[in-house]
Amino acid sequence: MRKFLLASVAALLPAMALGADAGLQWAYPVAPQGLPRPDPARTFQAKGTKTGMMLTMAQINNNFGPPDWFPDEHPAMPSIVKNGRAPHVRACMLCHLPHGNGHPESASVSGLPANYIIEQMHDFRDGGRTNSRAPVMIEMAKDISEAELKDAANYFASIPRAEQKWIRVVEGRTAPKNHVGNGGMRFLDEGTTETVPVAPNMIYEVAADAEGAELRDQHASFIDFVPEGSVQKGEALATTGGNGKTIQCAVCHGADFRGLGGVPRLAGRGAYYLIRQLNDIKNGTRKGGDVALMKAVVQNLNDEDMVDLVAYMASRDP
Ligand code: HEC
Ligand code: HEC
Repeated sequence: MRKFLLASVAALLPAMALGADAGLQWAYPVAPQGLPRPDPARTFQAKGTKTGMMLTMAQINNNFGPPDWFPDEHPAMPSIVKNGRAPHVRACMLCHLPHGNGHPESASVSGLPANYIIEQMHDFRDGGRTNSRAPVMIEMAKDISEAELKDAANYFASIPRAEQKWIRVVEGRTAPKNHVGNGGMRFLDEGTTETVPVAPNMIYEVAADAEGAELRDQHASFIDFVPEGSVQKGEALATTGGNGKTIQCAVCHGADFRGLGGVPRLAGRGAYYLIRQLNDIKNGTRKGGDVALMKAVVQNLNDEDMVDLVAYMASRDP
């Protein structure tokens, strides 16, 4: 188990060297080295679970059997989602959680069109998605069978809309002081009322329940602290196209941005994942598939425009 823990940390490290567009580096956070390890004998339990499970962090981080604290709250899970297949295909729910809403460093995959999920996996496999977060997905995409992929895609596509609500957006000039911790996630600093400024080109996506997030508890959601006024500016850009600066998102992403045909939903998804995609598409680390349709959307957007757009999308109901 310990070996897996180390492997997952190591997988995050190349991000430091690779670097994304410097201005949006904050959307690709990396866990600092040498964080204290929990006592391996200590056991934990998610709040309100009826399973009675008490697990060590090594069990919680088991690539091929992460915890499902609330098994009654989702449809029956295919084994590739629940357990993966050793050695290369880890359980999807390890990072995307049993409802697919995911953590900021991975992605929300709940309610995406099944075909879209399949195509993205092929894109990871074929070199179409290469950001600093991608290596874990590339390894899995090269080994997963088409039948397994179909099972996973159908499962995540079937998650009902009510289960997709996951992000709370808070606008302001400041956010509570926070830091990057385990898993490259942001956590609130404990025992302080200090704040940090939220610049117009910055978002802090923070765990609403720090322990829950570390326990991979599917009730432990996230808060996006976004710049003052960004949601309204994002709405204007998304709905009018900003005088030709971009294209109205609903044309392809559907009414209320809930997805249309094979085009993924944007509403209610975490700002960090969404802005990495806009940035990656703009700088070419995400290409292939139908990404060509997004090129004209992103080419004239600056970092602040992207912050506004994703703040607005994260604030919408899925
Ligand atoms: C070790 C963590 C981890 C595991 C396990 C994992 N993923 Fe991912 N997933 C990620 C990361 C990281 C990203 C990319 C985030 C980015 O591009 O910034 C991602 C992205 C995705 C995307 C792209 C979403 C989109 O909207 O385009 C899909 C689809 C996906 N994963 C499916 C799966 C499936 C299916 C499995 C199980 C076979 C799986 N993932 C297992 C970490 C993981
Ligand atoms: C002309 C059609 C079109 C328009 C207009 C459009 N998109 Fe897209 N968008 C797409 C397609 C198609 C994809 C999926 C690309 C792929 O297959 O990899 C996509 C993907 C995305 C993604 C990545 C989603 C994911 O799950 O990884 C984001 C973020 C996004 N669009 C944001 C926007 C925003 C914001 C707007 C409006 C400012 C917009 N799009 C307008 C067609 C469009």
